[in-house]
Amino acid sequence: MKEKTLSIIKPDGIRANLIGKVLSRLEEAGLRVKAMKMLHLTKKEAMGFYVVHKERHFYESLTSFMSEGPVLVMVLEGENAIQVLRGAMGKTNPKDADPGTIRRDFAESLERNIIHGSDSQDSAQYEIGYFFNALEIMSD
Ligand code: CMP
Repeated sequence: MKEKTLSIIKPDGIRANLIGKVLSRLEEAGLRVKAMKMLHLTKKEAMGFYVVHKERHFYESLTSFMSEGPVLVMVLEGENAIQVLRGAMGKTNPKDADPGTIRRDFAESLERNIIHGSDSQDSAQYEIGYFFNALEIMSD
């Protein structure tokens, strides 16, 4: 099933100049970019994005990290895009991620893990709508 998902190259990925390498991995996995923008999130915007984690002990630190520098947010489309993206990213903790995944190859820690991807259709819908309006997402 063709579907859309939301991905973010996080501030650690932008600082390490990894946009091209990460995008190559995503395209090689069969995903197509349908919308993209670079943003420097405020702390409040990062808190709104990660509101599902607001009770977790890492919420404060995660939202500070996500607002410390620019991020690249994008809508990706493809067959089973949510799962395909998660496969290309690897497990949340880079130490547990398989070799050849983005997090294993580039990330330094559980929190500073280079890339975000929606974990379900419901979160993809919320996350895409958080950053993009309908006119900004290419349909062809
Ligand atoms: P992401 O896929 O963006 O979803 C939530 C993020 O929270 C996750 O990647 C990590 O960056 C971060 N995260 C998840 N679990 C922990 C944890 N136990 N400690 C610190 N950060 C975490």
